Amino acid sequence: MRESPKGRPTPLPSGHRLHRRATAHAAAVFVAEHIARVIEHHAGLRAGGRAVLGLATGKTPIGVYDELARLHEGGLSFANVETFNLDEYWPIALDHPASFHRFMHEQLFDRVDIPRGMRHVPNGSVPEGAIERHAADYEASITRAGGVQLQLLGIGGNGHIGFNEPGSPRSGRTRRVTLAAQTRADNAGAFGDQDAVPTHAITMGIGTILDARAIVVLAIGKRKADIVRAALLGPITEDVPASLLRTHRAVHWVLDADAASALPQ
Ligand code: GLP
Repeated sequence: MRESPKGRPTPLPSGHRLHRRATAHAAAVFVAEHIARVIEHHAGLRAGGRAVLGLATGKTPIGVYDELARLHEGGLSFANVETFNLDEYWPIALDHPASFHRFMHEQLFDRVDIPRGMRHVPNGSVPEGAIERHAADYEASITRAGGVQLQLLGIGGNGHIGFNEPGSPRSGRTRRVTLAAQTRADNAGAFGDQDAVPTHAITMGIGTILDARAIVVLAIGKRKADIVRAALLGPITEDVPASLLRTHRAVHWVLDADAASALPQ
């Protein structure tokens, strides 16, 4: 629902769906079940069929990964899944407690059976001179996998997606970026203090993200209410990277009641 000039809600772009859930848990379960259906669908298509998922980090998807681990205990196999994470800090050691590499192992990879060579996270430990090559290789592996079928996304407090900060180009590809001060402040907790947060990151570009066949955006909590409103109802602009998702053909926006609280009923 986009706002008309008179403030009345008008429909979202066709192919977009808004799913409001009462709680963060219900929103996470909804997303995990959606992902599970995609995995099962691709496993069933043909022998060797593979589900290619784009994955996100941050606090938002933790409930989704918990639920996926639970579904795995109940029998859901990830043997036919290949994953590509959105981003990673740079520079950072793979085993740094706050690295996204480590996060993904703890939250998902060590709890399900995605084959080892099928889990891709940008490598924040590559030397500066090798970043460009690494980023190009990352794009090439996504292409080799046949492209991302379903991309899971959270939204940064300033509207960033992946680590594409406001002002990032709509057509951007995987590359090194400079983190905004707000992003470093938002993520200070994991590093102890803001000065310890790396100044850069390697992230899929907005163009890479928009190439995914379908996208699921998950937003949870009051602190996301204003940016969710801007992404869904404000102008479509590179100043609010999440608003660019409205140019994609198939997006599920999954919100808990708090994240949806600034939207018209
Ligand atoms: C992080 C990640 C994003 C994530 C966002 C929101 O910095 N790079 O991919 O969506 O910020 O984080 P959180 O879910 O903790 O609010």
